[in-house]
Amino acid sequence: MSTQKTGVKRTTIRGIAQKKGRDPIVCLTAYTAPVARMADQHADLVLVGDSLGMVLYGMESTVPVSVDMMVNHGRAVVGATEKALVVVDMPFGSYQESASQAFHNAALIMKETGAAAVKLEGGAEMAETVAFLSSRGIAVMGHIGLQPQSVHATGGYRVMGRTDREQDKIMNDARAIEKAGAFGLVLECVDTDLAAKVTQDISIPTIGIGASSVCDGQILVTEDMIGLSGHGVGHNVPKFVKQYTNVSLDIEKAITLYADDVRARRFPGAEHAYNATSESEKLKVMK
Ligand code: KIV
Repeated sequence: MSTQKTGVKRTTIRGIAQKKGRDPIVCLTAYTAPVARMADQHADLVLVGDSLGMVLYGMESTVPVSVDMMVNHGRAVVGATEKALVVVDMPFGSYQESASQAFHNAALIMKETGAAAVKLEGGAEMAETVAFLSSRGIAVMGHIGLQPQSVHATGGYRVMGRTDREQDKIMNDARAIEKAGAFGLVLECVDTDLAAKVTQDISIPTIGIGASSVCDGQILVTEDMIGLSGHGVGHNVPKFVKQYTNVSLDIEKAITLYADDVRARRFPGAEHAYNATSESEKLKVMK
């Protein structure tokens, strides 16, 4: 564990690995400092997911996300956390071309953000790249099953592992990524029995999203869980999301009240205005 300014110990890759078969691993996404600060209080691992393209920027998919976007958000999240292990997603096009392209961009992300690890999507076809990074000091998390960066090629957002062929492929992918040296593996939208088999078969922790409770850990997109993911008030989130609250309702309410107040000249009130004649208030900007 590394020691931070405050003396708090940050979870390490080893700490995450040691939880397999013992304690469930709590993971959440964060893209911004305020959410990261809150997630850090409870999560073992915080992922700066490329889902930020859809959730924060309203993109149609994660495909247009750039390395610069991941660096900027990664820096904000690392700076706002003390305890959780921070992993940053490698965006589409930043690692698929060659192992050296992957190393170049992974090293850039790690230097610029201070994150402990990167995550990349792909199975056996990415094993050589994962091995290249791992053997050169870059901790890698894998991501198989539904791979959002490849939805255009693979036929959309759907549950993976429904056919024997798909099941064999996912098992083969999991083994290849483990063998290549990844420290953990995200299983997205994978049938429960298959997720159980993979979790039992490999020695590294599986982190499920839509892959049932059999996985070693769980991850959700925080904004999905709190009703702020751009699906809008009353809109659906995927079946695997448990929505613990719907902050969109409160935000909509607050914005409506504010607009009404401004139009009716109820805001700002005297208590929100500066009064130059009052000595004690003269230089006070904050409450
Ligand atoms: O981009 C992301 O947020 C992810 C998680 C959903 C696993 O990859």
